[in-house]
Amino acid sequence: MSNKQHLETTLISAGRKPRYTQGAVNAVVQRASSLVFPTVADKKIATLGRAKGELFYGRRGTLTHFALQDAMTELENGAGCVLYPCGAAAVANAILAFVEAGDHILVSGSVYEPTQDFCSTILKKLAVETTYFPVLSGAEIAEWLRPTTRVVFLESPSSITMEVQDIPTIIATVRRIAPEAVIIVDNTWAAGILFKALDAGADISIQAGTKYLVGHSDAMIGTAVANNRCLEQLRENSYLMGQMVDADTAYVTARGLRTLAVRLRQHESASIEIAHWLSQRDEVFRVNHPALPESPGHSFWQRDFSGSSGLFSFILNEKLDSQALGHYLDHFEHFSMAYSWGGFESLILANQPEEIAAIRPVGQLDFTGTLVRLHVGLEHPQDLINDLENGFARLKKAV
Ligand SMILES: Cc1ncc(COP(=O)(O)O)c(C=O)c1O
Repeated sequence: MSNKQHLETTLISAGRKPRYTQGAVNAVVQRASSLVFPTVADKKIATLGRAKGELFYGRRGTLTHFALQDAMTELENGAGCVLYPCGAAAVANAILAFVEAGDHILVSGSVYEPTQDFCSTILKKLAVETTYFPVLSGAEIAEWLRPTTRVVFLESPSSITMEVQDIPTIIATVRRIAPEAVIIVDNTWAAGILFKALDAGADISIQAGTKYLVGHSDAMIGTAVANNRCLEQLRENSYLMGQMVDADTAYVTARGLRTLAVRLRQHESASIEIAHWLSQRDEVFRVNHPALPESPGHSFWQRDFSGSSGLFSFILNEKLDSQALGHYLDHFEHFSMAYSWGGFESLILANQPEEIAAIRPVGQLDFTGTLVRLHVGLEHPQDLINDLENGFARLKKAV
């Protein structure tokens, strides 16, 4: 039997050094802007060690932040972790840290829409050119790499349509052709643990901690765990950009880690049960759940991921008109309509095919019906299935 510690155990112990907990179980909440130096010598030590866990100034973090950073670094197997006020800030600052005017960034073609918007507005303004590649590419990504490519940005599974990427092949290709390029993965769906992006060879693993790390839909935070090669540049650029999060949010994020494994297991089993149920329905064209064989990139998920979380989508055969859409979406009992995901509660949103096509800069959609995205929360799956069944009954009546 292997003596390697299991993930569940690491999630309990990570970041709980006595220096941070000071006799309690959890790290203390140290709210501070100013951190006081008793002597000139202490001030010197703090200044020299300000990026290495010495208490220096609030913007560099307090014991509460250090506890979370240590935990994330251990969980994602990195050299260090930078914290941000939200996931979008983590995405933007991770990219910004490595590009300058005249550079090129290569982005997978179905990333989160605000990531695309950041590239088309802020990066464009800085004279950094973005191109997109078809999300299911492997070694073909070579065609899109340029001598000026500084960042390759991936997100797997992708937003809304849930394609899982062949990340090992992409990384091997980038390393061969553009070894200086920094490979960044938005690893939010996997909560940084169902897919180990740094172990797979990426440089930086980003999460919107807003989702599964916090897990209760009541706080916003972003995390970026980097390897040795990229940590210093990421950390110092982000510091100059004033990126930090408050101590209370860092605290609730670290608390979220303690239950992450059990929550994810429930999100996984309920979402798979519901995905299978949906795939048997006559109303459904396809279910995009990475754990289902019909889902795009399923074989990569099977090979590279240790499990799944609770976010997936399904496509109806029909494209609903706005009246039918309202009739369908307005009356769910357990699925609320809201942006974001990853909390304990179930959520539902719908997108029309033309809305998705507008945020797919390369390739064409292979469906024509309305897409429904679910986040399966921690309710009993049968109650959620009943709710979805009532939704289909409403659609039938509407026809
Ligand atoms: C995949 C992905 N990345 C990044 C973000 C941005 O995170 P935040 O809302 O915390 O800024 C989101 C938010 O929905 C997301 O779904």
